[in-house]
Amino acid sequence: MQGTTSPSSAAPIGIFDSGIGGLTVLRALLERLPHEDFLYFGDTARVPYGTKSPETVLRYSLRIVEFLRNRGVKLLVVACNTASAHALERLAEAHRDLPMVGVIEPGAQAAFHVSAGKRVAVLATEGTIRSGAYRRALETLGSVHVIDQACPLFVPLAEEGWTDDEVTRLVAERYLTPVLAKEVDTAILGCTHYPLLKPLLHQVLGDGVRLVDSAETTAATVEKLLAERNLAACGRGGARYLLTDTANRFVEVGARFLGRPLLDLEWVDL
Ligand code: DGL
Repeated sequence: MQGTTSPSSAAPIGIFDSGIGGLTVLRALLERLPHEDFLYFGDTARVPYGTKSPETVLRYSLRIVEFLRNRGVKLLVVACNTASAHALERLAEAHRDLPMVGVIEPGAQAAFHVSAGKRVAVLATEGTIRSGAYRRALETLGSVHVIDQACPLFVPLAEEGWTDDEVTRLVAERYLTPVLAKEVDTAILGCTHYPLLKPLLHQVLGDGVRLVDSAETTAATVEKLLAERNLAACGRGGARYLLTDTANRFVEVGARFLGRPLLDLEWVDL
C-alpha cells in the first residue's frame, strides 16, 4: 500500500493494542530488546476490542497501522490478541513490506510444544474465542485437543488491580472448573490482561496445568525477525506512548502492567 523507502534499523518498532493490555507485551520486548525504541499505540478511546465485531476491530486496526507507518516504524507488533485474531492477515496484506508479528502464532507454538498430552485450553476474550484463531494456529501444528473458554471478566479485574482477590478467585473458579474437567495440561493466556492473573490462575488450575503467556515468545519472534532483516538497533532504547484518550488512567494502571513508570506520552486524534 505504501512505504516506498524502507526504514533504517534506527527506526522505532511500532506496537499496538486496544489500550493498556499490550503493555505486558511491551514489557517483554523492553526486557529482551533494550536497545530498541518503541512507539506504543494504545487505542484508549475505543477499548475494549474483545466485545466488538471483527469488522470494527479490523477497521480500527487498519487506521492504527497506517498511522504508525506514517511515523516510520520498521516493524509492527500487534500486541492485542483480539486484533491479531481479526486483523493480522489483512494488515499484512495491506502492508506487505512491513515486517509484522501478532501474538497468536507465537502463543500457540509455545503451548503446543510444552503440552505433553496435547490437551490445550485457550483462555481469551469473546472475540478471540469466536474467531477460532488460536484453535486454527494450534491445529496446524499437529494433532491437539483444544478447549475454548472466554473469560471476559478477567479484563476489568486485572485493570482494577484485583489480581489476588477473593472475587477474582471465584470468577476464575467459575470459568475454569469446566476447563479442568476436560483434563487439559496447558492453558494459553490468550489475552493481554491475563498474565497479571498468572499466580491466581496457577492456584486455581493447579500444578498439572502449564500456563503459557505469549508475551515472551512474541518478543523472541521479534528478536529473530530483526536479526534476519538486519534491522536490529544499537541505541539506548526507550518507549513513547501514543493514546487516543486522556492519559490519567493509562499512566496509573499502565505502570502496573509495565512494571515501570510511563513517561513519554502523546495524545493522538485518530
Ligand atoms: N487487548 C485485548 C486482547 O488481548 C483485551 C482488552 C480488550 O478487550 O480490548 O484481546
